Amino acid sequence: MAERNIRIDGGRLWHSLMEMAKIGATEKGGVKRLALTQVDKEGRDLFVRWCKEAGCTIRIDKVGNIFAHRAGRNGNLAPVITGSHLDSQPTGGKFDGAYGVLAGLEVLRTLNDFDYQTERPLEVAVWTNEEGSRFAPGMIASGAFAGVFDLDFALSLKDPEGKSFGDELERIGYAGNSEVTGHDVHAYIEVHIEQGPILEAEDKTIGIVTDAQGQRWYEVVLEGVESHAGPTPMDSRHDALLGAGRVVDLVNRVGLDHAPLACATVGMLEVYPNSRNVIPGRVFLTVDLRHPDDEVLAQMDRKMRHGAAAIAENIGLACEIEQISYCRPVRFEDSCIKAVRNAAEKCGYSTRDMVSGAGHDACHLAAVAPTSMIFIPCIDGISHNEIEDAKPEWITAGANILLHALLEKANQTADGA
Ligand code: GLV
Ligand code: MN
Ligand code: MN
Repeated sequence: MAERNIRIDGGRLWHSLMEMAKIGATEKGGVKRLALTQVDKEGRDLFVRWCKEAGCTIRIDKVGNIFAHRAGRNGNLAPVITGSHLDSQPTGGKFDGAYGVLAGLEVLRTLNDFDYQTERPLEVAVWTNEEGSRFAPGMIASGAFAGVFDLDFALSLKDPEGKSFGDELERIGYAGNSEVTGHDVHAYIEVHIEQGPILEAEDKTIGIVTDAQGQRWYEVVLEGVESHAGPTPMDSRHDALLGAGRVVDLVNRVGLDHAPLACATVGMLEVYPNSRNVIPGRVFLTVDLRHPDDEVLAQMDRKMRHGAAAIAENIGLACEIEQISYCRPVRFEDSCIKAVRNAAEKCGYSTRDMVSGAGHDACHLAAVAPTSMIFIPCIDGISHNEIEDAKPEWITAGANILLHALLEKANQTADGA
């Protein structure tokens, strides 16, 4: 069969997604597969088994990233890599991350079916702890691969129970030997559900992702004075939760001030001592600010910091704000974007250029390799939710685009061509 007519097996990919979704399945139809838990290990084990069955060799690095390697005609050429993550949010869906990993595997299985050998090796990567919901910040291991975070920092991260990333990685048997940095990558292309409403609303099948917006994550601690909810008069309280409530509103206003492109979210709130008749003495909260323009993102940062300081002063609280991660806006690489465009033309799917609202491992890879992304729609744009869903035809379409974009890059024998 002519190369341009090769297509993936959509039924097989869907079946693999549904098998993976059984691992950590939740009652509402989603998944809870937090990074480096037992179910993360089971998901990884299943992926590794499937990759070995497809004839791949497996390499695992010191932050637990898994690379399934399919040889090319010329083993001296740098590989083309695809992939995503298998960890999920606490109330995550079946497709966020798993789709990019299993679409990559489906590409390799398809090439096996057609007995097709690429010039360069192809690899499917599983990046550890993309979500950042157990170990913050997220995208830690793709960031380590790109040299943004060092190994010791990644291994020293603690979950809310005080368990370390390094110990948990050892415990599940995925602390590999391979060095994390220094790998030559010819191109990286990742497919993902859009996680927003645009493609479905515009009835487009493929998002050609040209950019990803920047994001900053913060941890905020407000300290007041714990005291009795009965005898303490209203005018002499230093209520940390009252401050936190105002900070939640402030963050929302910072987002609205820069609408429609800005996003600003408080996603976590921990109240101490969390007792109904104690005025809260301490609150921990997280802030997530995003914008495609780095300068606007910096303005949002300033507004949030000044606003929080004023709120704290007004109530007599101490306020500490630590920025724990910063991912600048990313412009993906032209030849990789072109490979996605060419693939969509070849396969005849409708497309739209777009900016990613979510963070992805591809955002870090872009610092060390020519990189781009492919989006498919998801139902009602809903993601980070157990009801996250996608139509099988979209799942198939995105994997076909991935196949042809990867083939274009994997058959280039010179660096630039
Ligand atoms: C990753 O899911 C993100 O926070 O965008
Ligand atoms: Mn994801
Ligand atoms: Mn996610």
